[in-house]
Amino acid sequence: MLSDRLNTVPFLLKGEPEFLASIIRKLPDNPTILEIGTFRGLSAVLMAQQRKDVKIITIDPHIGIDNTLYSNPYIVEHNFKRYSVESQITHLTLASNDYYPAEKFDLLFIDGAHTKDWVSHDYYKFEPYVKKRGFIIFHDFGTHRGVTEVCASLIHKFICKSLFVIQK
Ligand SMILES: C[S@@+](CC[C@H](N)C(=O)[O-])C[C@H]1O[C@@H](n2cnc3c(N)ncnc32)[C@H](O)[C@@H]1O
Repeated sequence: MLSDRLNTVPFLLKGEPEFLASIIRKLPDNPTILEIGTFRGLSAVLMAQQRKDVKIITIDPHIGIDNTLYSNPYIVEHNFKRYSVESQITHLTLASNDYYPAEKFDLLFIDGAHTKDWVSHDYYKFEPYVKKRGFIIFHDFGTHRGVTEVCASLIHKFICKSLFVIQK
């Protein structure tokens, strides 16, 4: 179950999958999620597995992480099929500056490029697309300087390890 997946979701720390699941359970019926930073799709899988009625858009230009870790759309699609969540998730090979949402979301999960400029861009561009009472979650607060600096200027509702949560 969730704890088994810790091994296959390298970017979530121990305890974070359960916390993320608890936020997703709070969302209204037929919730929608926008994720910035798909990587291999495993955080999207985790979120999709929490509820059958959730729909997710996840975007990533697949430029890699620190020149050492790589992903691509084929790995992402493979993972969605492997976990039988492909009907719930739309993956777009796009960077956040090239994506313009056509709808509002119940949850925005910001886990793309971690520099202050990109984190700030992703927050201020997509915050208007979060519904009233919707959630915004930053990953890697406290562990990545750019994320931490942007979060420092914002008021949080919860913090769980490196997940910094705002509710509108
Ligand atoms: C930390 S990983 C995401 C991890 C994933 N959410 C998970 O938990 O499995 C960061 C990803 O952000 C992507 N990325 C970098 N710049 C981006 C941008 N401007 N827009 C969207 N994604 C971006 C990278 O290609 C990388 O795959």
